[in-house]
Amino acid sequence: MSSEKDPLFTPQAFGDITLPHRVLMSPLTRSRAAQPGDVPQDINVEYYRQRAGAGLILSEATQISPQGKGYAFTPGIHSAEQIAGWRKVTDAVHDAGGRMHAQLWHVGRISHPELQPGGADPVAPSAIKPEGAKTFISAESGMVEIPTPRALETHEIPGIIAQYRAAAVNAREAGFDGVEVHAANGYLLDQFLKSDSNARTDAYGGCLENRLRLTLEVVQAVVDVWGGGRVGVRISPTGSFNDVHDQHPEETFSALAKGLDDIAIAYLEVVEDSFQGNHENGRPESIISAIRANFSGVYIANGAYSADEARERIAAGKTDLVTFGRPFIANPDLPERLRRGAPLNEPDYDTFYGGDEAGYLDYPFLDEGR
Ligand code: PHB
Repeated sequence: MSSEKDPLFTPQAFGDITLPHRVLMSPLTRSRAAQPGDVPQDINVEYYRQRAGAGLILSEATQISPQGKGYAFTPGIHSAEQIAGWRKVTDAVHDAGGRMHAQLWHVGRISHPELQPGGADPVAPSAIKPEGAKTFISAESGMVEIPTPRALETHEIPGIIAQYRAAAVNAREAGFDGVEVHAANGYLLDQFLKSDSNARTDAYGGCLENRLRLTLEVVQAVVDVWGGGRVGVRISPTGSFNDVHDQHPEETFSALAKGLDDIAIAYLEVVEDSFQGNHENGRPESIISAIRANFSGVYIANGAYSADEARERIAAGKTDLVTFGRPFIANPDLPERLRRGAPLNEPDYDTFYGGDEAGYLDYPFLDEGR
């Protein structure tokens, strides 16, 4: 396929900027931040530098505050050391010709007292335990069950929004090109959005309008820092990872898309199934169409896409862009490989989370003479 005709390799207007092509890198937890402090370190700089050929890199999920942390070894963006560490990453990506957004993350109930300041209980919209959900608290203890969280008091909500605002300011200082608010995969904002994890009776729960309120207020705060043209939101309307469920996902996520359209953000990244890309029953087409009908910004599809499916769905107008996860772990030069139709390296699942350079910096490039 000649590159002029390949739907994956046409530019895309994207908020304030234009992306050169449509092969984007998903946010991917790799659990390799320096300890103590959850600080991006040299191996992280090199990992992102290697992948700078992406149309856009979304950073791994990055905690906005100590309270927002849910796993050992994930990076933060709330301390001066973390900001300095991220600055090295964004400088390297920019020097290599790339663009990168920070993904802003508060895990809510998907945490553990051992990871929380002062050993506190994790916070959530409601004191509902995520059944079967686990988190990784330390190399020694490994994966552990998540306890029942504490419901946030109404008077604490402005403090949550302030955490996102501060992280958005820090992301600017760290040299990112924009930010993605993580409202997917059963973390804090998704817990508020979805009916079965939100049993609140105040203005942040109950009816649909109330369940959307926190996400819309957070996104408005972030847009106040960055401008809408540099902000996106990640959602997972039908995902049940971390034990979240919504009774009426089409209604909920159409209304959210409309609310986000009113704030005029640049893009929505939609996990079109579970975060691990399980879509035996097909993609949730009616929800995808409803979201697109209510949102005039750029639509990014995510979820176990092959290059050919990405091409088909871009050509059919079902998505504008695609984020690739596992293929980007194993192929630092993924866009170039897809452009040339070259074979792909296979990912090694055992080295996805934690560890060192192995399975992180050593996947071969097509042209090893780089
Ligand atoms: C994870 O660390 O397992 C993780 C983080 C963020 C996600 C999904 C999974 O959105």
